[in-house]
Amino acid sequence: MNNNDYIIRKETEKDYREVENLAREAFWNLSEPGCFEHYFIHIMRKHKDFIPELNYVIELDGKVIASVMYCKAKLRDENGNEKPIVTMGPLCVLPEYQRKGYGKALLEHTFKVAAEMDYDTVINFGNPDNYVARGYKSCRKYNVCFEGDFFPAALLVKVLKDDALDGRKWFYYPSDVDAPCNDTEAVEAFDAQFPPKVKGWQPSQEEFYIHSHSVINRK
Ligand SMILES: CC(C)(COP(=O)(O)OP(=O)(O)OC[C@H]1O[C@@H](n2cnc3c(N)ncnc32)[C@H](O)[C@@H]1OP(=O)(O)O)[C@@H](O)C(=O)NCCC(=O)NCCS
Repeated sequence: MNNNDYIIRKETEKDYREVENLAREAFWNLSEPGCFEHYFIHIMRKHKDFIPELNYVIELDGKVIASVMYCKAKLRDENGNEKPIVTMGPLCVLPEYQRKGYGKALLEHTFKVAAEMDYDTVINFGNPDNYVARGYKSCRKYNVCFEGDFFPAALLVKVLKDDALDGRKWFYYPSDVDAPCNDTEAVEAFDAQFPPKVKGWQPSQEEFYIHSHSVINRK
């Protein structure tokens, strides 16, 4: 990766299908046989919680090789006070360009833009391996959970300002933007618009199961 070779820029309408295909390539068979993230991206752009100002891609030699999207979400404390925050994802890099620093560049760029927009907290689900080097911490460390005091191991929090979270308990309310992804027929129908790809098992699916079914019970 050479800093002068690539451009970080906003996604445009012309990129839509290329970005969806890039997501399909990046997520295929990663957490389940096939994937839904290309459909997720497709529907997210039309959702009220989608934040176009934080929708960036990396272009290299005229090709889009990485993409990131964000949505509005909120935290609510035990007294009912609310705080607007953002949920990050999907984040993806074309497989042949992964582990070269492009994901890092895209996150660091969009964290700056989000901070300029006065957001101070970013949350996402994910494999901690991909995020701890970006300063993400376990939700438990910031006392951020779901209703019922549920602290998933894969719920990761990045603060963009040191005093963003003051230790009080915050309940996380994500957008419902991903709800249509449960419609497997709609995902299949959308996937059929892309070149055929073979669904199969790979070890990352077990890793995903472990991460997504784990909770942190002790500080
Ligand atoms: C996850 C993903 C977005 C990361 O982007 P990337 O460009 O591949 O990652 P980067 O090269 O920027 O590295 C990010 C971090 O990954 C880790 N990393 C990088 N290279 C690594 C390697 N060879 N082995 C293990 N970890 C590595 C490091 O923690 C690195 O941060 P650091 O360089 O500051 O230490 C990308 O790999 C991807 O699209 N994967 C498939 C889709 C996916 O999993 N998306 C995220 C959903 S949770």
